[in-house]
Amino acid sequence: MPQPVPPHSSTNQKRLLITAGPTHEPIDAVRYIGNRSSGRLGIALADRAAGLGWTVKLLLGPTNLTPADSHIEVRRFRTTAELDALLRPAFSDCDVLVMAAAVADFRPRGTPAGLLGKLRRGLEPVTLTLEPTRDLLAGVAAERRPDQTVVGFALEPAERLIDSAKDKLRRKGLDMIVANPLTTIESDTIDATIFTTDGSPALTPGSMTKIAFASVLLSAICAYRRVQSEQLATGVIA
Ligand code: CTP
Repeated sequence: MPQPVPPHSSTNQKRLLITAGPTHEPIDAVRYIGNRSSGRLGIALADRAAGLGWTVKLLLGPTNLTPADSHIEVRRFRTTAELDALLRPAFSDCDVLVMAAAVADFRPRGTPAGLLGKLRRGLEPVTLTLEPTRDLLAGVAAERRPDQTVVGFALEPAERLIDSAKDKLRRKGLDMIVANPLTTIESDTIDATIFTTDGSPALTPGSMTKIAFASVLLSAICAYRRVQSEQLATGVIA
């Protein structure tokens, strides 16, 4: 259920919650299923926002990169379940969520028992059964207050980037989505398209470093929140 707007809340408040990096889903005590996300964009965004005076909390997955700004509160996760446990309480205390983490869609079934040891090589093939994870972003977006802004990412093959991103924007109940081609992962650069639900034209800033894109995205979020603020004040959204 969407939450009511607390008294005195405003879209001018600047508490930013960012998730970044990959997830590692354990197969046994030493192996995992992961992905090639570096967390670079989410970390750049955290540094940029902190530099501009935002209060920033960063939920950071297993990556060697860390933010430079010491004012950023960093909490670490490894698995989708650990991120879920950090995200839900942190979400109610934020004004803007940017969900840049590359969250696993599937995890090996029954790993807690497998974690007790290490799978041994035998002559027979090993079959892993994967079970779907919860969609964390859709889950928190369904609980959001009207004064919160929820930003998601879509990593897609170029040929279905636009359609798929627009579909995720609507289906997950987001304010904004950053659509990326698959080549973005592990890269220093990004060539993204930003879609919002306020009817603004799509933003295509072109190929640039992730540090430069962090500034573009933050400006887009601020512009969106100005419109959101007006709509809240005039009762267009309640
Ligand atoms: N996401 C999430 N929980 C998941 C998977 C993804 O919160 N279990 C979030 C990501 O952080 C991202 C957005 O959802 O902001 C889109 O992720 P993406 O992997 O592109 O899409 P999926 O939801 O996994 O959908 P599909 O498998 O259809 O591409």
